[in-house]
Parts: sequence; structure tokens; C-alpha cells
Amino acid sequence: MNAFGRIIRAIKNRPSRQSVRALLAEMDLSRVHIGIIMDGNGRWATRRGLPRSAGHRAGTNNAKAIIEHAASLGVGYLTLFAFSTENWSRPDEEVSSLMSLFRETFSSYFDELVRSNIRVRVIGRREGLPADIQSLLTDVTEKTCHATGLVLTFALNYGGRAEIVDCVRSIAREVASQELAPEDIDERTISDHLYTAGIPDPDLIIRTSGELRLSNFLLWQGAYSEIVPFDTLWPDFRPSDLEQALAAFARRQRRYGGIGGSERGV
Ligand code: FPP
Repeated sequence: MNAFGRIIRAIKNRPSRQSVRALLAEMDLSRVHIGIIMDGNGRWATRRGLPRSAGHRAGTNNAKAIIEHAASLGVGYLTLFAFSTENWSRPDEEVSSLMSLFRETFSSYFDELVRSNIRVRVIGRREGLPADIQSLLTDVTEKTCHATGLVLTFALNYGGRAEIVDCVRSIAREVASQELAPEDIDERTISDHLYTAGIPDPDLIIRTSGELRLSNFLLWQGAYSEIVPFDTLWPDFRPSDLEQALAAFARRQRRYGGIGGSERGV
């Protein structure tokens, strides 16, 4: 099917805004955790004859719009994959423009998050980030730690495998100091030692730009997540797409390896 055919099919299959809104009204969104792999900034820019950095800037502005919309819908948890442990292998110029963009965004945007009652968390190897960015992140996580609205997690210098390595190291230290017996280690122990301890596993993972990979995002936590792919490039992903993703998730039957039934009440 050509691109035109795909667009027509997508429009035909897309439920109306009204029916999506009705479906969302029935859901307890405060219990829902959405993970997003924000992909396609580079292609968005290249298609417009712009440098990739312009795509990342457009992607960042879009992330702010999606955060605001998720908060206004009453979504409980939103985790954004902003920079992976693998992204360091990009050309130096792109890495440094991304770091400058994070620096600029975090300096100007964090007060807004504080005012919006959003609780910010950061997952990833924070120590690998530039020192000034680390201190901005520490500042905002401390300032928002008592916020009661959306729990917003930025995955920065994050990799699911690196997270599992760090988790195993921390469990091994507890075993070595005899705080923990090896036979007491279970799935809960692992979850409690991941960067995401205290945050429920993602219910759905959205990936934009038509790719169908997890790319090292929330590997343990995403074991039962519903993957909701979009062909749209990240800077073009709209608040209404977020609603469509939630509606698609609500229509899926989650079986957790069983034969049907429980849906965690969402
Ligand atoms: C992938 O696009 C995206 C990233 C490497 C992450 C960048 C994300 C942002 C700049 C948004 C961050 C938002 C906040 C609020 C911190 P890509 O470059 O891989 O695109 P491509 O696959 O088209 O090349």
C-alpha cells in the first residue's frame, strides 16, 4: 500500500474525538503509566531541509505540549525517553547540540513544572551527564518531590540493560553485606532495585515514526506493556494522538499470559 493509501486507512480506522473522549471518561487515568519513545526528530528536520538539531528543538517543544496534555487529562505517570546510553555514539556535534538543548530547556522549563504540580523524576546514569545538567535535575526533583499531580520521568542517559546491570550490582552489594539472602530474591526485589522503584510498570508504550522496536527502553518494566506504534514523526505527534493511544490501549484485552479477564481496573 502506498503512503496515500496508508493515510486513508489510518483516517478511516481512527475513532472520532467524541468516542475517544467518552472512552477516556470511563478510565481511571490516574493509574495509567504511559511510556513514550519519541522517535523521528532527525527525519522531521531532514524532510524540511533543516539541521537535525532543529528537529530536536521541535521535538522538545512537542514534548512540553504532550506533558501538559497528559497532566490535563489526569494521567498518573508519563515516562519520556529523551536520551539513551546508545545516543552518545551519534556525531559529537549532535550530542553537544542535544546537551545544549537539555540545558536550555531544563533551565527555562522547570519552574513551569513546579507550578503545574508535576512531580519530576529522572532515570538513567545521571553521573554520565554534564555536571550542570545533573545539578538542574537534582534541583527540580527535589523541588517537586511533594507534588501530587502527574509523575513525569525523564529517561536521560538511560538504557534498560544498563539499568538491569546497576540493579544486579546493588542487589549483589546487599547480599555481600548479608542484608539480603539470595533465596529471598524475587521479582519484587528486582523491581525495587530498578531506577523506577515505586513507579508502576508502563501500561502502554508509544513509539512514533513507524519503528517497532523497544530500543532498550524499560526492558524489565515493559514485559506486559501494550505497544502502540504511530507512523507520525515525534514533532508531529499531537495531543489528540495521545488520546487515540489511550483509547487503543483501553480496547486491548490484557491477559498477562493467562486467558483473559483482569485489566487492573483501568
Ligand atoms: C529520536 O529522534 C529522539 C531523540 C534522540 C531524543 C531527543 C528527544 C528530545 C529532544 C525531546 C526531549 C524533551 C525534553 C522535554 C527533554 P531521532 O534523532 O532518532 O530521529 P530519527 O530517527 O529521525 O533520526
